Order: sequence, then C-alpha cells, then structure tokens
Amino acid sequence: MELFIDTANIEEIKEANSLGIISGVTTNPSLCQKEGRDFKASIKEICGIVSGPVSAEAVSMKCDEIVKEAEVLAKIAPNVVVKIPIFEDGLAATSKLAKKGIKVNMTLIFSTNQAILAAKAGAAFVSPFVGRLDDIGQDGVDLVADIVSIYKDYGINTKVISASIRNPMHVTASARVGADIATVPFNVLKAMVKHPLTDIGIEKFLSDWQVLQTVTSKN
Ligand code: G3P
Repeated sequence: MELFIDTANIEEIKEANSLGIISGVTTNPSLCQKEGRDFKASIKEICGIVSGPVSAEAVSMKCDEIVKEAEVLAKIAPNVVVKIPIFEDGLAATSKLAKKGIKVNMTLIFSTNQAILAAKAGAAFVSPFVGRLDDIGQDGVDLVADIVSIYKDYGINTKVISASIRNPMHVTASARVGADIATVPFNVLKAMVKHPLTDIGIEKFLSDWQVLQTVTSKN
C-alpha cells in the first residue's frame, strides 16, 4: 500500500517527503483554506516537492465548468490529479476528462455504487472517506474492503485511496483490506513512527554504549 500525505501544509509535506515514505499528496478546499494561501501557487509548490500524484480539487458544480476548471488545474504541473466530488455533473466531467487523458480522483465516496460509477466514468482514483463513515456509526474500512474486492473481481484499474484517515489503526486496517493507497494526515504519520518500547530501547542502547565507552577508555 502506498502512502500519500493528506495536507496542504508545505512544511508537513517537506518533512514527510524527506523521510522517503510518501508517494503523493491529497488536498481539499478545507485543507487549503486552513493554510490561507493562494490555491494554485500552493499546488504548484507541492508539485515541485513531490513527484507523485498531487490531488487538487475542482469546485465548480456544472459539467462544462468542472471540465474547464480541471483543464486549468491540470496545466499547473504534470503530476496534478483533479479531485472531483461524486454527483451527476462530476461523473459527466470525469468521463470527458478521462477521454482527454486528465486524471481524476473522485472524492466523497460513501458507497460501493458510487465507486462503481466513478470507475465507469474513468476515474483514475476513488477516495472512500473512512473516518466520516465511522463518525456516523458505519464501518469505513468495510467500505474500502468492498470496493477493493469488487474492483478486483472485475479487473478495474481505478486505484482505491483510503481517505479521511483519523488514526494509525485506520492505516493498518486499510492495508489489511488491500487499499492501493492510504492518504494520511501528518499527525497520524508521526504517530505511526512511534512506539514506547522503541523509545525505551533507543535510550537503553545509548546508555549502554556510553558505559562501554567509559570502560574501554580506561583499558
Ligand atoms: O482526504 C479526505 C480527507 O481530507 C477528509 O478527512 O478528516 O476531514 O474527514 P476528514
């Protein structure tokens, strides 16, 4: 399973990228609003940091306008993937964009049927929202598992991005059910690194090493 970072924060993207663990970035209007910067300038900068897919969301609500907006976004950099929510005009725009070779990440996926339609329209990626389903008492990872299994049965190439990840357990669970990608917020990526026994182990190795230096320097 690949890991993307789910943020528009440049410092977070640079730090995660420097660890060599992320292969793409997803943003959305809420994440961009948090940064308060010019949207296109942010996307351009992110695309210069990470060479893999960078999702930038279109906000138009009519098919032709979505297509126009997507074409502008796709021109920012070759690794831009246009994020489009699933609704009728979004599907129509996705099918037009797919024919033009522009990659779409169909977002706000909350059902298997939405994922089937997104794939039919030619979306390169679908983003089922795990955390938001969990929030309303529905198992978000079950949805990811169902989409992965349906796509596998029918040889569908659309990649499944496990999104709206809220904790490290969501990442493990997404990997277990075969998600192609998990897009993970920075705080969750950081939490994935840590284990108290690792911290204790490092401290013990360092203190034993110091003891060894003292002993060998006396000999
Ligand atoms: O990738 C989608 C994600 O950003 C949504 O996350 O936590 O707002 O549900 P959240």
